[in-house]
Amino acid sequence: MKRGWYSRRVFPKLLNWSMVQSGFIPLRQSLLAQASGAVLEIGFGTGANFKFYPSHVPSLTAIDPNPGMVPLARSHLAEGVVSVHLALASAEWLPFPSTSFDTVVSTMTLCSVPHLSKALQEMLRVVKLGGRLLFLEHGESPDRSVRRWQDGLTPVWKHLGDGCHLNRPIAEVIQEQCWKVTALDRFYLPGVPKPFGYFYQGVAVKS
Ligand SMILES: C[S@@+](CC[C@H](N)C(=O)[O-])C[C@H]1O[C@@H](n2cnc3c(N)ncnc32)[C@H](O)[C@@H]1O
Repeated sequence: MKRGWYSRRVFPKLLNWSMVQSGFIPLRQSLLAQASGAVLEIGFGTGANFKFYPSHVPSLTAIDPNPGMVPLARSHLAEGVVSVHLALASAEWLPFPSTSFDTVVSTMTLCSVPHLSKALQEMLRVVKLGGRLLFLEHGESPDRSVRRWQDGLTPVWKHLGDGCHLNRPIAEVIQEQCWKVTALDRFYLPGVPKPFGYFYQGVAVKS
């Protein structure tokens, strides 16, 4: 996919500022503490997760299709204890053999992936049987009034947020693509306007 100037030059800087906000820290910490074995992170962005991987993770491969993210992600590499292999790739076409990973991680990325079902199938393909998807994602609210805002804002927000959708029913789509959701918390993140701040945090298993 060809990326424009906003996507490559401006959006990574906005993301670097917004993704290190303190409200996300305990959520990233608690999610990534569960990572184990060979890990694949989908959509590394500016590398905000790297410092939260526990030292027992033997290898971390992280992909993102936007080359504009790479310099910022590299600048965060040294903050972590796990060595990271960065690759430019899209979740829909993962350049890895089947059953290569134990854990797949996605934080605030499934909102932006253009072909979500295809991406979830690819993630299922590259993970081993019994392997897990750890996710922390924002998406569709259960409240009708908030959903109306999400549906109304998404066509405009998609441009500002580099493809981000506010209204994806994340847990349902994960299940539809044959992942078994075994743990799920849904909540509004305090301090974030509701259309942007309805979160899904959980674990899904390849069974
Ligand atoms: C809101 S950012 C989140 C970044 C990071 N995961 C975090 O938690 O800070 C969304 C990321 O998804 C990436 N992305 C967009 N389309 C993608 C795709 N098809 N496959 C993988 N990543 C994608 C974007 O380039 C961007 O880095």
